[in-house]
Amino acid sequence: MSYGGSWLPSSKIFRDESKLQIDYVPRNLPHREEQIRRLRDYFRPFLMNPGSIFVRVILLGGVGTGKTAVARRFGEDIDGLRARGGAVIRFSYVNCHAHRTLFSIMQKMGRDLGLSIPRRGFSREELMHLLWNHLRSSNEYLVAAIDEADYLARTRDGEALYDLTRISEVVGDKLHRAGFIFIFRDLSFLVTLDRSIQSTLQHNIIKFHPYTASQLVDILWMRVEEGAVYESAVDDTVMEMIGELVGYDKGGPGDARLALELLYRAGKYAEEEGRDVILPEDVRKAYSDVVPIPRDVLANLRLGEKLLLLALTRLLQRKKFVSKVPMGLLELEYNEVCEEFGVKPRRHTTVWEYVRNLHRMGVISAEKSRRGQRGRTTLVGLSAVPLQTLERELIKMIKEDIRRGLS
Ligand SMILES: Nc1ncnc2c1ncn2[C@@H]1O[C@H](COP(=O)(O)OP(=O)(O)OP(=O)(O)O)[C@@H](O)[C@H]1O
Ligand SMILES: [Mg+2]
Repeated sequence: MSYGGSWLPSSKIFRDESKLQIDYVPRNLPHREEQIRRLRDYFRPFLMNPGSIFVRVILLGGVGTGKTAVARRFGEDIDGLRARGGAVIRFSYVNCHAHRTLFSIMQKMGRDLGLSIPRRGFSREELMHLLWNHLRSSNEYLVAAIDEADYLARTRDGEALYDLTRISEVVGDKLHRAGFIFIFRDLSFLVTLDRSIQSTLQHNIIKFHPYTASQLVDILWMRVEEGAVYESAVDDTVMEMIGELVGYDKGGPGDARLALELLYRAGKYAEEEGRDVILPEDVRKAYSDVVPIPRDVLANLRLGEKLLLLALTRLLQRKKFVSKVPMGLLELEYNEVCEEFGVKPRRHTTVWEYVRNLHRMGVISAEKSRRGQRGRTTLVGLSAVPLQTLERELIKMIKEDIRRGLS
């Protein structure tokens, strides 16, 4: 029997569910025309006359404002483009939560170029040369989007950013074979960079503002038009309700990811009840069980980090009256969680590393306690709510990681 056969009950709500998943790159991005136009303008000379200039652009804005979507849309549009003299433009997308060191970033770029880069035995300079030589010999030019760059800026490998911003210098080539799009949520890292680089970057910032309710409604309808949901399954009331809940001008976060997730979950509830339309009550239900941390952030966590986060989620639920817990307690809970899932708990230093990583990703808070009787300890907290939903989601993901043998 073939998959996707007619024995599968077909949905009366979703035409194509994959168009609401996180890795879907929308064809149209309403209210981001200006950002896309500016991105094209910055890269035009590079695309017209490859190698002529070194392009470094920053996309800057809060959660769910369309930075990743814009970068990927632009990337898909230029990938494979043939420029003057037979040169070919290639695009690579790198997420720094998944690729956390310069080495790993270069590996990903290499892979996207069809190059296999060995796991060990190369210094970062050698890797850069390897990549560069490949570009040179195949007459290719690379545009790379470095997403979640905030994470990189906060790590010990923060220099990685510095090296990327002056890669042509590092490899000593007059031709600029690579251009970069750096994606940031905030710009505090800028001050850590060299003055001259600071000023170059400051002139190349494209800002993304949170979406208003009516902009979100346009985005939702566009996704319906692109074939995610049957047009007959939604109406203005439902769309506007989501807009009201999420729109920046209505006191919401202005996050398109949240708006789309609400549509998706509301659709699931309608489906469960066998209806062919989404009702306001579905949206209300959906709103009460949105996972408080973006799904793509969770997806990039290592198993150990998920276990630690689960431990924190449980502790905070039990200790109803505190918002932060001491590190020692968290570690004990972490050990228990590991036991529950049959995973060998890691040593203290590694657990610390988990806390540091989660903190850098902005998932948890970690601060030194005030000097008290018991000396200073680190207090770890989580502002995300609701915790039960997070707990449920983490357990699902942890089981899946274990099933797939990930660590
Ligand atoms: N203007 C838009 N039109 C259509 N879809 C959009 C638009 N802006 C964002 N989206 C969708 O909303 C979701 C979130 O957008 P995106 O991932 O680009 O946000 P982001 O700015 O990168 O957020 P974060 O900082 O959290 O990574 C994605 O599914 C994306 O496809
Ligand atoms: Mg993003």
